[in-house]
Amino acid sequence: MMMTMEYHNPVLLKETVDGLNINPDGIYVDVTFGGGGHSKEILKRLGDKGKLFAFDQDQDALENTIDDSRFTLINENFRYIKRFLRFYGAKKVDGILADFGVSSHQFDVAERGFSTRFEADLDMRMNQQNALSAFQVVNKYDEEQLKQVFLQYGELRAAPAMARLIVEQREVQPIVTSEELKAVLKKFLPPRHENKVLAQIYQAIRIEVNQEIEALKEFLEQTPEILNEGGRLSLISYHSLEDRLVKRFIRNGMFEGEPERDMYGNFEVPFRKVNGLIVPSKEEIKINSRARSAKLRIAEKI
Ligand SMILES: C[S@@+](CC[C@H](N)C(=O)[O-])C[C@H]1O[C@@H](n2cnc3c(N)ncnc32)[C@H](O)[C@@H]1O
Repeated sequence: MMMTMEYHNPVLLKETVDGLNINPDGIYVDVTFGGGGHSKEILKRLGDKGKLFAFDQDQDALENTIDDSRFTLINENFRYIKRFLRFYGAKKVDGILADFGVSSHQFDVAERGFSTRFEADLDMRMNQQNALSAFQVVNKYDEEQLKQVFLQYGELRAAPAMARLIVEQREVQPIVTSEELKAVLKKFLPPRHENKVLAQIYQAIRIEVNQEIEALKEFLEQTPEILNEGGRLSLISYHSLEDRLVKRFIRNGMFEGEPERDMYGNFEVPFRKVNGLIVPSKEEIKINSRARSAKLRIAEKI
């Protein structure tokens, strides 16, 4: 595969790694390795005894591995974080960094199907071994499932009508490429907002294909058990669905409802929030437009 462009330009690099409050002898995890920008910065701040484990479910990311005896790259989904850390002998760690979503590389390789800029077969799998692809979602999901995907993950008001039209059209002929999907949904793409609506449609399908919300929740739920006391979470989200879950989990240790109270009436929560919401500066967004929707939240295990 050609890789002429830079794999990924790390977002909020200093702020996110600062958020880990690194102990040079500690054990850290970067659950979204990508091009390894954040991992390299963590390694710079670790001493000889420190360790870094990284996860990425995309095989392409393995080409960026770092030759360093303190570093281990795990080609797995971070929803299995506890299991794989145990396998590598790390029951507890001192910090976990996540930079969710899709890498620039994944967007830039046309045939991966992530970008609205290129014509490609419907795919959008971060892990190319997975059975579920955008083709399956568009051609096999029933109308109600499609509606829910567009509604929940794309926040698209026209979701019911879009789902109906897709189901009608695919009976005539399967919808194979991004151009075909675009043609089917043309009447929902107002010329002035075509890119915005298309981006919402793509986002919805991508979140479903990669089961991003389920993976995020399962990952977060394991973090209180994995982190040592005083250990940090430093998490960058790129859309409101993700950020809402991260924020609630940091505040309550759960996604819905309220935590239990202890015998003094205080809420029993696993984390203490560190700083408020951190977003990239105007300068960073100017240099790296993919930073524009980034939201960083930091928490410390109590
Ligand atoms: C925004 S990029 C991270 C970029 C990285 N911080 C850097 O500096 O290069 C997100 C990466 O996380 C990976 N990823 C997303 N969800 C994942 C999951 N559930 N399990 C494992 N890897 C995941 C993607 O394949 C992608 O390479």
